[in-house]
Amino acid sequence: MRKPTPHPSGAKPPKLSKNLIPNHVAVVMDGNGRWAKQRGLPRTAGHEAGEAALFDLVEGAIEIGVKEISAFAFSTENWKRSPEEVKFLMGFNRDVIRRRLDDMHELGVRVRWAGRDRKLWKSVIDELERAEKLTVKNKVLTLNMCVNYGGQAELVDAMQKIADLIKSKKLSPDQITEKTILANLYEPKIQPVDLFIRSSGEQRTSNFLPWQSVYAEMVFMDVLWPDVTRKTLWKAIEEYNKRDRRFGKA
Ligand code: IPE
Ligand code: IPE
Ligand code: MG
Repeated sequence: MRKPTPHPSGAKPPKLSKNLIPNHVAVVMDGNGRWAKQRGLPRTAGHEAGEAALFDLVEGAIEIGVKEISAFAFSTENWKRSPEEVKFLMGFNRDVIRRRLDDMHELGVRVRWAGRDRKLWKSVIDELERAEKLTVKNKVLTLNMCVNYGGQAELVDAMQKIADLIKSKKLSPDQITEKTILANLYEPKIQPVDLFIRSSGEQRTSNFLPWQSVYAEMVFMDVLWPDVTRKTLWKAIEEYNKRDRRFGKA
């Protein structure tokens, strides 16, 4: 085990009591293409530059006490990009997981994959499953890598699984509750999202974790993903603390 390496600037997380720290933060890592374009570079250079941002954010999450991060790495809609970019992103995701695995394990991070297997490269699935197996007992933080993830696809897949249960008489329709839905999502152990953040200035969810985010606080930031650091996360957590979470209560 190792402790997170402090941020090179020496910055420390804001001191907040435990009940003010979001348990689960969902992260839409957006703006890589625009970051690259601003520099006259190919879009792929933006994706490459985004790798460090994610792992700095993970270290900052551990420092401040966040227990779960869901990172949107490739959506079910991203197949609509050029074949070259799709191919790059598949290989890149596989390589990032491979490259970072030992270090995540050292930090006590549990890695899980949430996504659809259909269409996803087998080499990517293999790498994700290897990471899940190696880190299964880690407890410092859970990192859900959302690769080939789409919220609508996840609900469709859950409904198919539930329909199969009904067909084989393991379940009757009147027994379906919110718990049944949750139990049939890609990661049934996933916690409700407390804080949902997105970089790049876009203010939409783009099909990320709809079931899990119904009561999430949304924080949209203008920074492009490759420029994100753990300090961006800490700032979002300070914004989160200005919100009044009522959950329907008066
Ligand atoms: C996010 O950056 C990475 C993925 C969606 C895989 P984008 O590639 O969407 O960057 P922009 O939005 O075009 O700037
Ligand atoms: C969301 O970003 C998906 C990921 C970050 C993986 P997109 O760039 O694909 O979203 P849209 O197309 O702007 O909604
Ligand atoms: Mg984008």
